[in-house]
Amino acid sequence: MYARAFQEEDLGKYRFLVTGGAGFIGSNIVEYLLKHGAGHVRVLDNLATGFEENIKPYLSDPKFEFLKGDISDPETCMKACENIDYVTHQAALGSVPRSIKDPQATNTANITGFLNMLVAAKESGVKRLVYASSSSVYGDSPHLPKTENQIGNPLSPYAVTKRVDELYADVFAKTYNMEILGLRYFNIFGPRQSPDGPYAAAIPLFMFSILRNQSPDIHGDGEQSRDFTFVENAVEANIRSLFCPISKCNGEVFNIAVGERTTVNELFRIIRDTAGSSLDPRYRDERPGDVKHSLADISKAREIMGYEPAVDIRKGLEITFKWFREKHFPN
Ligand SMILES: NC(=O)c1ccc[n+]([C@@H]2O[C@H](COP(=O)([O-])OP(=O)(O)OC[C@H]3O[C@@H](n4cnc5c(N)ncnc54)[C@H](O)[C@@H]3O)[C@@H](O)[C@H]2O)c1
Repeated sequence: MYARAFQEEDLGKYRFLVTGGAGFIGSNIVEYLLKHGAGHVRVLDNLATGFEENIKPYLSDPKFEFLKGDISDPETCMKACENIDYVTHQAALGSVPRSIKDPQATNTANITGFLNMLVAAKESGVKRLVYASSSSVYGDSPHLPKTENQIGNPLSPYAVTKRVDELYADVFAKTYNMEILGLRYFNIFGPRQSPDGPYAAAIPLFMFSILRNQSPDIHGDGEQSRDFTFVENAVEANIRSLFCPISKCNGEVFNIAVGERTTVNELFRIIRDTAGSSLDPRYRDERPGDVKHSLADISKAREIMGYEPAVDIRKGLEITFKWFREKHFPN
């Protein structure tokens, strides 16, 4: 992955901070940056849901540095931003069900931690901060496809935290004249997404179950739909948004997806076919806080940052399944 460069800037001139860089999306951003000659890449991560193994290949690289620490501590954030040009902020506690179970932990990482990072970025004078928001901010809005300026009420504590982040980002951009852009990810999947724990996402769970020859659970009737997005597309969005012209979009948010809708039943069938399995899923109760349908209009990211998702869902699932099989079931 990541043979293709997403922009023309010489990354060797800059020092990058990737918060949450030991997690799924963050470690993919790290991989891209180091493959494309970044001057320095620092990761700040407390390993709450990330894994040192995700960054293990880079630990011996002199251009790479791992700072184990928590973004809920302001001093740690200050230290992480020292001598940094560009920040891509991925650290957060994901998962709607986790936030319903423990809203305080989600609030601490996602709002207090985010605010600490904004302050640290401001004090350190970084050139730009790009951060991970989420399609969950569309909440109960019935509009499809989702356009950035038409959101609804949040349906979970997680969605509240991401919406608050967007409000803080906009205010910091305007009040302190900082360069800040937000990316509303829509169901990202790919290599290194964790299948472990009670809050794992559907795609790694389906793959893991099928590889173990066990029927995966589908919540609800499976007719809920999502704009499933391969991680390489999310990495592209991060890199492009770090370097795109800021004049038209400071403080703004962008949908990051493919712009195609797939139901969970269809998703299951594609994975099952890819795996050559004949298993059927087990249907469980719907989960509270989940939205029924999600589909992004990605024209804003296309027009302003030249984002053009190159990997569709089928190709992405193929790459991901191969990775899962090799990583978790090597024999
Ligand atoms: N994966 C998706 O589909 C998706 C969708 C929408 C938004 N997002 C957002 O994208 C970002 C990355 O998500 P991911 O899927 O890679 O999840 P992940 O859990 O794999 O990565 C998050 C990383 O942040 C770290 N972290 C959590 N709390 C921290 C803290 N207090 N201090 C320091 N590090 C901390 C974790 O250890 C982990 O490595 C998150 O902000 C998430 O909310 C993800």
